Parts: sequence; structure tokens; C-alpha cells
Amino acid sequence: MSQKSETKSQYSLSEASLLDNKSGLHDAVLLDPIDEESFVDNLRKRYKDDKIYTYIGNVVVSVNPYRKLPIYGEDVLRTYAEREDFEVEPHIYAIADNAFRSMRQWGRDQCIIISGESGAGKTEASKQVMHYVSEVSGKAEIVRKVKNQLLESNPVLEAFGNAKTNRNDNSSRFGKYMDMKFNIQGDPVGGVITTYLLEKSRVVEVADGEATFHALHSPFSACVKHSPFYPFIKNLGLEDDPSAYHILCSLENRSAVAPINILNKLSRSDQGGNFNALTNSMKSCGFTDREIEGVFELIAAILKLGNVKFYSEDSDSPAVIKDFREMKQVCGLLQMDDLEVLRNAITKRTIVTSAERVVKKFNADQSNDARNALSKEIYSMMFHWIVRKINNTINVSSEIVSDCYSIGVLDIYGFEIFKENNFEQFIINYCNEKLQQLFVQLTLKEEQAEYLAEGIKWKQIEYSDNTPVCNLIEGPQRFNILNMLEEQCRFGGGNDSLFLNSMNDAFRLNKGGDSGDMNVNYNSRDKSGVSVKEFPDGAFSINHYAGKVIYQVNGFVEKNKDTLYIDLEDAIDSSRHFILRQCVQFKQKLEGSEARPAQGYRHLSSKLVTCSGTKFKASMHELLSSLKLKNPHYVRCINPNATKSPRNFVDETVTAQVRYLGLVENVQVRRAGFAYRQKYEAFVQRYRMLSSHTWPKWKGAPKDGAVRILKAVHLQTGEREIALGTTKIFLNDPQTLFKMEKLRRERMDELVVVIQSRWRCFFARKQYRLKRAAVTIIAAHFKAYSARKQYLAVRNATMTIQKYERGRAVRKVWRKKFRRYAIPVICRFMWNYTVYKYLTGVASECPSMSPLDNKWPECEIESLESAHGQIRVLDHQYRCKIYRDNKSEDERRVLGEKATASLIFKGRKTMYAASVGEPFLGDHLAMAVNPGWPELTNSPNAVVKFSEYVSKFSRNDAKKVLQGQNRIMVITSNHVYFLDTKPRPSVKESFPLFNLRSISCSPYNDGVLVMRTVTRAKERKSYLKRNRELGDILISTEHLIEIITKLHMEFTMLTRMKIPIEILPSFAVNLSDKQLQMRFERRQHSLLVEDDGIQTTVPSAELNGHQDYQGHVIDPRQSPLNESLERIPEEQLESPEITKVKNTITVITS
Ligand SMILES: Nc1ncnc2c1ncn2[C@@H]1O[C@H](COP(=O)(O)OP(=O)(O)O)[C@@H](O)[C@H]1O
Ligand SMILES: [Mg+2]
Repeated sequence: MSQKSETKSQYSLSEASLLDNKSGLHDAVLLDPIDEESFVDNLRKRYKDDKIYTYIGNVVVSVNPYRKLPIYGEDVLRTYAEREDFEVEPHIYAIADNAFRSMRQWGRDQCIIISGESGAGKTEASKQVMHYVSEVSGKAEIVRKVKNQLLESNPVLEAFGNAKTNRNDNSSRFGKYMDMKFNIQGDPVGGVITTYLLEKSRVVEVADGEATFHALHSPFSACVKHSPFYPFIKNLGLEDDPSAYHILCSLENRSAVAPINILNKLSRSDQGGNFNALTNSMKSCGFTDREIEGVFELIAAILKLGNVKFYSEDSDSPAVIKDFREMKQVCGLLQMDDLEVLRNAITKRTIVTSAERVVKKFNADQSNDARNALSKEIYSMMFHWIVRKINNTINVSSEIVSDCYSIGVLDIYGFEIFKENNFEQFIINYCNEKLQQLFVQLTLKEEQAEYLAEGIKWKQIEYSDNTPVCNLIEGPQRFNILNMLEEQCRFGGGNDSLFLNSMNDAFRLNKGGDSGDMNVNYNSRDKSGVSVKEFPDGAFSINHYAGKVIYQVNGFVEKNKDTLYIDLEDAIDSSRHFILRQCVQFKQKLEGSEARPAQGYRHLSSKLVTCSGTKFKASMHELLSSLKLKNPHYVRCINPNATKSPRNFVDETVTAQVRYLGLVENVQVRRAGFAYRQKYEAFVQRYRMLSSHTWPKWKGAPKDGAVRILKAVHLQTGEREIALGTTKIFLNDPQTLFKMEKLRRERMDELVVVIQSRWRCFFARKQYRLKRAAVTIIAAHFKAYSARKQYLAVRNATMTIQKYERGRAVRKVWRKKFRRYAIPVICRFMWNYTVYKYLTGVASECPSMSPLDNKWPECEIESLESAHGQIRVLDHQYRCKIYRDNKSEDERRVLGEKATASLIFKGRKTMYAASVGEPFLGDHLAMAVNPGWPELTNSPNAVVKFSEYVSKFSRNDAKKVLQGQNRIMVITSNHVYFLDTKPRPSVKESFPLFNLRSISCSPYNDGVLVMRTVTRAKERKSYLKRNRELGDILISTEHLIEIITKLHMEFTMLTRMKIPIEILPSFAVNLSDKQLQMRFERRQHSLLVEDDGIQTTVPSAELNGHQDYQGHVIDPRQSPLNESLERIPEEQLESPEITKVKNTITVITS
């Protein structure tokens, strides 16, 4: 088991084990008999088992273990937050939980008063309380911040206000009351810290083995080379070695008191080096970097000031400062411009009377005192400035403060008896005396109030009362120690011995000699009946509640005055250090002198408002009356030994504390009433098994339940043994409780057996029932399953038989009608089905949407072949249509022309293939936009469809040769024109389109074509006259395909008729009324020219001389069939006149 869970179980024991007495009793009220011996014995037993906490009713007694015990932390804390007090071991957490719960439940302010002598563990206890409260309260981010500030204020205050003493390494040298404020939800919202009288003499003088405040040691923890703060410390001009500083060294051997690494322990965020930890905590509490710097500047100044040394020849001669180095550094750190002011302050004193102003020079000792006074004052100002700064950070805004509840934790310096006791011890012990008085009053009052509230008869209990000691110190009578001390301070010439004398006079007589006489508690050498040996000179003693303390009267008056010489005040006034300035301003504000700030510190202190003893008395009274308004909880701390050692329980030391804390009386008071009390509800809940009426549950009034239980165990209720209050039951004798506990245990054993057997029986019965139910369910399911299976088998068989029989019967009736009715239906169905199958098949195998895609599925059904063909055509048309629809107007026209060309020429003329890729440009020569064109034509509105150069051949009758001329052929929507361009453009020939009769061309690769026109006799005559030409028109062109296509299309448009187109290797042609035969001959790739018997291969030739015309020429000379044509030299081809024509024109082509 882990340590954590062990701890948890240890702290969550039932009350049975709380009462088993093995580790002592958890509540001393249960002790029998009640005396000092048994009480201490009980504490020792518990201490040995690491049980450091013990209750006296609701008071916690805590014995300092001086070592870390595993009884704190998250797990244990949860146990206390979840359980009732009587269920768990006594703990400081229980007190904190009580306070927190009461605050939330009853909405009442709470206070936790922690008392005990120095080193008894008060400060630790107060930290545990704060830790507990902060852990169980809210967890929101803002709440966490507040908690952190509250918790971090502890290490800061401890660093500046705690110091090592012989009794405690971390002794609080100031009193602290921290009021934590909570909102209605129980979340901390802030707090206020009040401090009481800092022991500032510790700044400069400490007893042997003791040390000054931790904060003055802290810079040296950063004096290691790798520390990030090292440069900062060096900047302050501090040495690495603390022994270099007088005030850090013990008086005995003048070496620095072994550095206490206490700051590390104080800070929760130990990040290497207490300086680091301290500055981090200060930052958490809202200190800026500059402010932290400022604090350490003052610390450095105080350390250096302590090193300023004075010399004087003898006690009458004035002091001299030999070395001014330190002084200069102090002036620098305190930002004092004039070193002289500081020097005057610590070497002289100016006394101002109404008549004159006297300056008295100090000797070395007096200078030492003045220097120390200045150091103390600066430290004290700084400490209070820090407290104010923290309060400003954790402060609750005034708007919500009225809606807040508070838990106050009082951790004040503990009762102290040193070898030599001074004013500080007197004040500390007076404070403890007042707290003891409060404790005695309140515990008794509370106890009595409870009995009264519960309606129980109550008799006043005697208890040891420290009121006479309190009266001795503070009054109410006029002659009390504080008053007498103040008197000495107020009037000039007052001093310590006068003070002692006045006390001796006032308290000389023991009036009655009884404890009610305050004079009994005062003693001194002068008092009658006291041996001289017992008292050192100049001392007096007070019998405090915690023991007799002898005080040295020396210094009482001066310390009580708590004022500075004018010169020292001047020195503080001359400092420009921001912390000191703020302190002076604060004091001015406090004393209502804002109107005269220029008058500074001197003005303030010279008023001598009140002495510190009287001030302390006032603050104590204020504190006590505020505590009285709150619901108090007490922690009484006990120091088990004077050597700070763990596991060392010194009976005498503890007995003395038990005695003076009045703890046995406390138990007796508690017992004089009743040892044990409990709410009826809790009592019934715990012991309900002892009566059959209340077991297992009691539904009636809790009080009746309790009576029933008592009856069942034969206990008589009466006034002394067992009393019944209104809400609580009170038991006088602890044995009664033990008896009830024993009976409870026995009854529990019985009940356990009964419950066990009942449970086993119930469990077995439940198992049996479950099994039986399961068996029945399984059997039922199986039976149902086999019955169903059998039934299905029978039903299937029956249906099969039925089916056969019905089929047979129906077939018998229907056999005759079958052919007539069924066959056509089946056939139709089969046909439809076949068609359906076919159509869906075709649809799924259709080719792509391209009109050129020739794929088409095979038709597997013979009877559907023609439909298959038609569908193919339709599909193709459809694809073409879609293709066309997707084209623009122009693209569609070109397509139409190409399609027409294809219809005419595809497979009929070799030339066609090459023309497919060529677009039909139509108006090649841009006649339509030529401005001269309209003048040349008869019908200027006709649209030009084609224009291009062609060679037009005519027959020279005289020479009988064909003559080729360059002409521009223009086809319009109704005419065909041949134009000559030289000497100027003119129409040479033309005919209306509807006169075209037919067109002929060869199937080969040539551009020769013949247009046959109808020329009426009259026209012909005039025509002949003009042109001397007759018959058909023979032209050669490279745009043969385009021309014929255009002519065909325009003719069809014009006449709605088709023009006959002959494509033959030989046809007749009528030129100038002469009938000739045209023959086309194919040769491979070349034209053979015979010239003077030499054959030459010519790659190409031009027929008309103006264009490169590949592959087809008319060359009548080359044909063996061409008898009528004479050979024409090649260069003469361009001059048609020389060509002789007989009856045949032979065209050689490829
Ligand atoms: N509950 C505790 N557990 C462990 N150590 C403790 C506990 N209470 C006190 N101490 C030890 O005792 C020392 C003195 O306790 P502290 O609370 O400072 O005494 P006080 O405030 O009463 O003078 C602490 O520094 C610590 O070492
Ligand atoms: Mg303390």
C-alpha cells in the first residue's frame, strides 16, 4: 500500500478505534481520572505514535513533532472535508474545516486562536489552517490568484518578521492576525493582515546563538557566482561573505551566525536559493521589480550602517568616524545628498528647549546607539511598508466587503522566558496573558451557554483566572505597569530606575495575599520578603499565567518612547529613497497632517503621540473585542522539549505548559459538565442497532430514538449521568460511552452474522430462481422450435400435393382451349420480348456520337435485319443532326458544300480525295467587296459565290489550235462571268445560270471541265458577233471540285432542278461550232514531252502559265491518239494560238 493511502486510512478510522485507547484517547475529556499526570501521559502515548493532535472537546492540543509527518496533504485533507469530526482522528484540519463549515452554514465570522509558547508550532498550525481553507474553497482562476496571494504573503512576512532564536529557528518576531475574506459561495476574495509590535531591536542586537531577521541574511544566498541575482547583489555593493557585516555576526565569536536556510523552507516555490524564492513570493504579492530592488537597497544600507565604527579617547571625548567609505555607500543607497546630515545624526544630539538649542556631541557608545536607532527605524519603516503593500494587493474592495464572511487566524509571538528579558518580552508576554484570559473566559462562557441553551442544570465552575495579572499590567486601576511606564516617558527626566521605583511603591503591599490580589503577582528586590540574591539589580518579576518572568528594567522607558532624536529624524527626512518617502507620507496621512507635508518626519515624531506600550494595549483591546464578535476555535500548541529535537517528549517541559495553559482545568471544566455530548441525530445514527425499535431505521423524533436506545441498554437518564438537552445528549461518565461502544461492537458482530446469512440466503434464492426461470425458458423455446419445424414440414408437403392436384385438374379442363388462346398470347409475348431484348441490346451497344463512327452492332435476329439497317441510318442521321446543330451557320454552309461535293465526286473523280481537306473559300478574289464589281455586272444585287483565275480555252479556227486565256471566273447567284483584267477590267463572256445544260469532267486528277450552255439563236448570233466563239466553255482550274459544286448548288437553288454532271474519260465538246472529242489519258506522275524525237521527263507543267498547277495538264501533243494537235513547244503552251486542233483533244493526266 502506498504511503498516501496508509495515511488516509489512518485518518479515517471509525470512532471505535478512536475510542480503543491504544494510542491514547483522542479526546482528553474521556480521561479517567482527570489529572495532570494522566493528561500528560495521554499526550505522550499519542506523541509516540505520531498522533500530535488531541482534543479537549472542541479545542485542539498540538504537540510540536519537530519533523515532517505524513499527516498533511491532499488525501488527508479530503478525508476531513468529507467526514464528520467524530469519525476521524483529531487534526488541525478538523478545526479549519469546522470554521469553514460554520462560516458557510451559519454565515458567521470565525476566528482561530493559536496560542502556546515560542517554538510550540503556532506559525506552522496557522499555515496548515490557511492551506486547508484554500484547498477546500473554489478553484476558479481568479480565486486561485487570490489564494496564491494570501498564501505567498506568509513567506514574505516570515522573511522580514521572523528570525532564529534559541527556542525556534523561525520565530515570529511580530504578532500577526490574518483575516481571510470569503464571498457567499465560500470562495476567498482577499484579506487583511494586521501586525503587532515588531521586535525591531533584533535588527542590531541579538543574544548569543540567535540571529537577526531572515531578510537581512537573504542577499547572501544569492552570492554564488552562477546565481542570476549575483550582479544585482554586487550592484548594491555587498560583500560575498556575510561575516563582513557586524549585525549578522554573533556577539560571541564575531562570525556570521550559520546561515539559516529557513527561507527555502518557508517558500512553497523553492527554485534554488532563498533569495530567488523570496523575490518570487514578493512578486506574487504584487511587488514590482523596482520595489523589490528598493527593499534590498534599504537592507544593504542597514547592513552597511551596522559597520560604521566610532572611536573616542575616553567616554567623555566625542566620537570620531575614521573610515567614511561605508557612510558614503549608505548615503548612496538611501539617496541622501548630504553626508554631513547623516554624520551629525549619529554623532551629535541637538536638544531644543523653549529657551535655547544645545548641541551635545556623542561619545563612541552613544554614537553606536544612535546608529542602531537609525537602523532599527529604517527596518521598522520598511517592514510596515511591506505589510501595507501586501494589504493593498489582497485588499477586498469596499463595495463587496459588507457581503463577505471572514476567518481570522491569530498567530502571535509565543510566551517567552529568556535569560534576560526586556521590554519586548514584557509586551509579548502581556499579549499572551490577554489571550489566555480570553481563552479562559470564552471556553467557560461557551460551555455554560451550551448547557443553558440545552436546558441543563448548571453550576458555576471554579477555574484559574489570570485577570489579576492582566490588571497588574494594564489596569483598570490607575496604577498599573503600562500607565507608570507611560508617565515616565511623558515627563522630562523619566528613566528606568524611576519607573522601577514607582512600581515598587505601587505594588509593595500584598493586600489579601490571595490570588485575586494583583500585587501578589509583582515582585522585586525592594519588595518585602524577597531575598536580594533572587533578583539581579534593576529587575522586577511578574507571575504570569505561564510562569514567573524576571524583566530587566533597563531600556523600558526608551523603548516605550519609541522616538528618535531630532538629528536622526533630519537624516530620515533628507533621504529621497521612495520607500522611506512613502512611509513618511503615510504617517503624515495617518496623523492628519497632509496639509504640511514639507515638515516631514521630524514634525510627526516630535508630537510624541502615544507610547508604544499604550499603543500596543489599544491594539490588543481592539483585537480582542473583534475576536469576541467571532465564533472562536482554539489551537493550544505545546513544545515537547527545549532542544527543538524530534521524538523527544520531556515530561517536565510538557507538564509545565499543560499547567500554565490550564489544559487540565479545561478538561475538568468540560467534564464538570459532561464528558461527551452529541446531537441526537448522530447519536441515534451511531447506536441505532442497540434497540429493535431504532434498527434498522428510526423514523420518529431523534430524541425519542435516543431514549429508546438508552432504555434498551438499561441506562437511566438523570441529571448527573445522562442528561437530555433539547438537541443534544450529554454523558457524564466516559465509561458509559465505552459501555455503549462495547455493546455496539457486540451487536455489530451479531448483525454482521445475521446480515451475512440473510444475504447468502437471499443470494442463493435469487440464483436458484434465475436458474429455474432459465430452464423453463430454454425448454419452452426448444419445444416451440421442434413443433414449428414439424408443422412446417407437414404444411409444405400438403401444399406440394395440393399444387400437383390442382394443376392436374386445371390442365384437364384447359388442355382443349390451350392452342386457340394461349399460342397467340405466347407468340406476342415472345415477339415483344425479342424486340425488347433487341432494342435494349442495340441501345447498349450504340456507337459514339461522332458522325464518322462507323461501328454498328451486328444484328443477330434475322427478322429484324431491315429494321436494324433503318435504325442504323436513323441513328447516323441523328448523330449528323446533333453534329450539325452544334455547328455555327458558316460551319453548316461549308459542311453542306462539302457534303454536296461528296455526293457528286466521291468515288468518281481521283482529284476529289485531295480536295476534302481544303475549305471552299468561294470568293477567292474578294469580288463581292471590290468597288469596281457592281459596274461590270448586269445584276449588281446578285451575291458573288465564287471568283478565281481560270484558264479558258478557245479554238483558233484559222490556226486550228486551242488558245488558253487568263480569265477571272465569277459565279453569282444567277450568272457566270469571265472577266479579262487587261487593259482594264471587262466582262468577256457571261451566261445566266439557268442556261447551263450540263457539266463534264474526267474521272482523273485534272482540272479540265466543260460547261454546256443553251444559247438561243438570237443570243447566239450577237454573242458570236461579239466573241467569235461558239458552243461549250472549256476551262482548266485547280478549283474544279469547288466550281462544279458551286455551280450545282446555285443551279439547284435557282431552278429547283439538278444539273447533269458527266464524269467520263472521254466526251464530246462543241467549241466554236465545231464538234470535238475530248480524251483523257492517265500517265504516272509525269508528263512526257516529245520534242524532236527526244523524250524528257518533266515533273510538272503549267497549263495556263500563271499558277502552279500540279498533276494534270492538257498536252495534246503527247497523246498518240491526238492526231489533230500539232506539237507545241513547251514555251508556246502559254500562247494558245499555236495549238492546232483537229477533231480530238487529248488531255494527259495523272
Ligand atoms: N506540525 C508540525 N510538523 C512538523 N514540524 C513542526 C510542526 N509544527 C512546528 N514544527 C517545527 O517547529 C518549528 C517551530 O514552529 P513554529 O510554528 O515556528 O513555532 P511558533 O510559531 O509557535 O513559535 C518549525 O520551524 C518546525 O520546524
Ligand atoms: Mg511563530
